[in-house]
Amino acid sequence: MKAIYYFLLLPILSVISSNSLNNAFAAAINTRHHLAQIKETEHLTDFNFDIEINARLIFPNLRLKKAYFALQEWKKAILSDPENMIINWDGVDVCSYNGVFCEKAPDDPSLLTVASIDLNHGNIAGQLVPQLGLLTDLSIFHINTNRFCGIIPNSFSRLTILHEFDISNNRFVGPFPNVVLDMPGLKYLDIRYNNFEGMLPPQLFDIDLDAIFLNHNRFCSTIPENIGHSNASVIVFADNEFHGCIPKSIGQMGRLDEVIFTNNKLSGCLPEELGLLGNTKVMDLSNNKFVGTIPEGFGNLNGVEMIDVGDNELIGTVVDVICTLPKLLNFTFSDNYFDRLEKKCEKPVKPELVFDYRQNCLPEKPRQKHEKKCLPFGTMRQFKDTSILEIEAKSL
Ligand SMILES: *[C@@H]1O[C@H](CO)[C@@H](O)[C@H](O)[C@H]1NC(C)=O
Ligand SMILES: *[C@@H]1O[C@H](CO)[C@@H](O)[C@H](O)[C@H]1NC(C)=O
Repeated sequence: MKAIYYFLLLPILSVISSNSLNNAFAAAINTRHHLAQIKETEHLTDFNFDIEINARLIFPNLRLKKAYFALQEWKKAILSDPENMIINWDGVDVCSYNGVFCEKAPDDPSLLTVASIDLNHGNIAGQLVPQLGLLTDLSIFHINTNRFCGIIPNSFSRLTILHEFDISNNRFVGPFPNVVLDMPGLKYLDIRYNNFEGMLPPQLFDIDLDAIFLNHNRFCSTIPENIGHSNASVIVFADNEFHGCIPKSIGQMGRLDEVIFTNNKLSGCLPEELGLLGNTKVMDLSNNKFVGTIPEGFGNLNGVEMIDVGDNELIGTVVDVICTLPKLLNFTFSDNYFDRLEKKCEKPVKPELVFDYRQNCLPEKPRQKHEKKCLPFGTMRQFKDTSILEIEAKSL
């Protein structure tokens, strides 16, 4: 930027300083003028930002001027940019910066303004800066797969029309970034693969989000009771340390398409209310500590294509009403303590359907748990392959 600036300025100053001075002297004066001009800044105050911009820089409108300031401040907080993602972040034309996209302002089509930022897969190391809150026309902010660290500045609550906020696969830390609860336009929240920890705020389910990705963090609370208020179509809780039960209110989530609880420490019985999710396609409850039987209500999951209850401590019978669900393609119930299959669960009733029976207490099936593991969980009937049992018995 400085180079361009210099070239633009020099001819003007040369004319002013003109004839009688020799060239070297003129050049010296020019340089001094130039420095003086650079220092001449314009002060703008926007809420709590003091905006300092070289008064000589010309912008098409005030919004782009603020955007310039915000992006330059952000650039200063970027410490490593190995893919040269922001290499051209110089000069007044912010709309030409890599990863910065301008459109007509929603409230004033005569103004061009920064509408989205996409620096995905940049491997950039740095931090977010509060000045980004000046980008009030932003509707998309995607910075996934970088090395951004620190926290999300509170000023992001000023991004009132932000629709998609994807900061996944970075190194953000601290509690749940509550600032996202103050973004009234937010629909898509993706904070997976970071180091957020602690509680999930219940307010998360009282804002109108369509997709919520929380997976691969270190959240360790219970799942807030008001989950049923959410209109989300996708919620992914996977790979955290959520514990406690699944709240019964989940049954109210009429728009839920996909819910993934895998790899947490959830426990208790599966609530009967899960059976109310007639539109849900994917229900993954695997790798937790659920006990009891599969609720009968699962027989009402008429839209479900994939059920995974694998790797829990479920017992009892796997029933026909689930195995014959009309849209079912994949029913995984491996690694539990089921000890009986109803008839239509014995083998898939249609060719495109798969069941995973492994590591249960099902005498007729191969690759089951050892009898001694099954005994505490129910009546273990006879294994077909008694030789395995004999070996077992000898080793006891
Ligand atoms: C869900 O949608 C309904 C109807 O559109 C709306 O009244 C309600 O406020 C929404 N809930 C949330 C938590 O946004
Ligand atoms: C069924 O789902 C499990 C995980 O829930 C997955 O590992 C497996 O690959 C799926 N099988 C098919 C055939 O899609």
